[in-house]
Amino acid sequence: MCSSSRYWSVFLAVGIAVALPGCEDRYPEDLEYYFSPHTRRPDPQTNKPAPDELTEAQLSTAAQQVLARLLKPIFGTPAHPKVDLAQADESLSLPDDPELAGLNEKTLEEGSRLYRRFCIHCHGIVGDGRGSTGRWLNPPPRDFRTIWFKFRSTYDPSGAIALPSRADLRRTIHNGVPGASMPSFALLSERETEAIISYVIHLNMRGRTEHALGRILVQQQDLSAGESEALQALPDILRNIVQSWTRQKKLVKPVPPAPRWPIIETASTAEEAAALMRRARDLFVNKGACVQCHGVDGRGDPREVPDNAVRRDFWGNPLPPRDLTQGVFRGGSRPQDLFWRIRLGIAGTDMPATDEKQLSDEEVWLLVNYVMNMSRTRPAITLAE
Ligand code: HEC
Ligand code: HEC
Repeated sequence: MCSSSRYWSVFLAVGIAVALPGCEDRYPEDLEYYFSPHTRRPDPQTNKPAPDELTEAQLSTAAQQVLARLLKPIFGTPAHPKVDLAQADESLSLPDDPELAGLNEKTLEEGSRLYRRFCIHCHGIVGDGRGSTGRWLNPPPRDFRTIWFKFRSTYDPSGAIALPSRADLRRTIHNGVPGASMPSFALLSERETEAIISYVIHLNMRGRTEHALGRILVQQQDLSAGESEALQALPDILRNIVQSWTRQKKLVKPVPPAPRWPIIETASTAEEAAALMRRARDLFVNKGACVQCHGVDGRGDPREVPDNAVRRDFWGNPLPPRDLTQGVFRGGSRPQDLFWRIRLGIAGTDMPATDEKQLSDEEVWLLVNYVMNMSRTRPAITLAE
């Protein structure tokens, strides 16, 4: 549709090219990033808005303009994105870290062009997950402006949520999210994928800075006092956000080798396999307490687990546990992916992390086996107990 057809007159082709600005990769020069609400799930107990929510009702148009004025010199515009920390404080600059590769103007421009072509209709111009298609999807596309990413190999021992590593983002973009509408972009070149990752990180940094500054503005009665407080806080906010992206590589949870892989299939005798399977079943039901959400047969039927009918994610969207008998795993189906999901949980959802005290590495591996086996043996997964 974007190339002019030789059967059409030159006049028509030119007319269509002018009428279809979407055919041009680049964002319009005068387009600016805009404020989009940072919504969260209300407190389930009190039903009050989440304390870190930032909505249009809280921020006047004038306050939104202040935000835009503070952010633009640092983060640029969609056509010319940048991360120019020195604009906030001369002593600040981006560390030379492979996780932050490509946050230069040339790569970000390429990333923003590709993002516009491939991601924008779902993830939105500012990365809020509210693109034109995004509104209709369940689960909805990720809001890139928080630390809450689901499919990570990273783990923060302090209990804080760790950002995904570049490798995690690469995997999501390459494989897509099976069972959700996020498509695979395996056909992009390595350079293109890296440019898009850098641009997603840019949107994350910009969105989190906007959120932090916005929270300062809403807490001040007087807008100009709020603006000077925000300006003062800006260097520290940026420093923390940059650090969060350079830290996460050190937080990658190494996948310990499986004691014997695959445990169940390689068991030397049928009795040994059955014994391992019983142990795994026991972990699923008792020690791991997986049945509390996934149900005894792994389907998470709300008739068995009534909470599943009302379970929601961090943003307030309905999110029942995965039906484990389907064999569709959003974060990837390699044993190692499932190891990370069961060990580290899925941020922003009820799927909990388990530490070594709760389940040893060997026990997590047994659960990985069990979960993988559940879909393979579907529908007859009843085990002799
Ligand atoms: C058709 C809609 C759609 C398109 C196009 C799309 N995504 Fe997504 N994306 C989603 C959905 C839906 C999710 C959330 C899946 C979930 O929560 O399980 C998601 C999630 C993500 C995540 C978060 C993964 C995590 O760990 O939380 C990243 C990163 C991402 N997409 C990047 C991209 C990039 C980059 C592009 C363009 C190259 C893109 N997406 C294009 C729908 C889309
Ligand atoms: C408190 C509820 C809860 C408990 C307990 C729970 N899960 Fe989950 N689980 C969920 C939810 C919700 C999802 C869906 C997350 C999503 O789609 O983003 C999920 C998803 C999963 C997935 C799918 C991962 C993917 O990539 O799609 C697996 C596998 C899984 N759980 C295994 C387990 C195992 C094993 C246990 C026990 C150790 C367990 N869960 C305990 C709520 C729970």
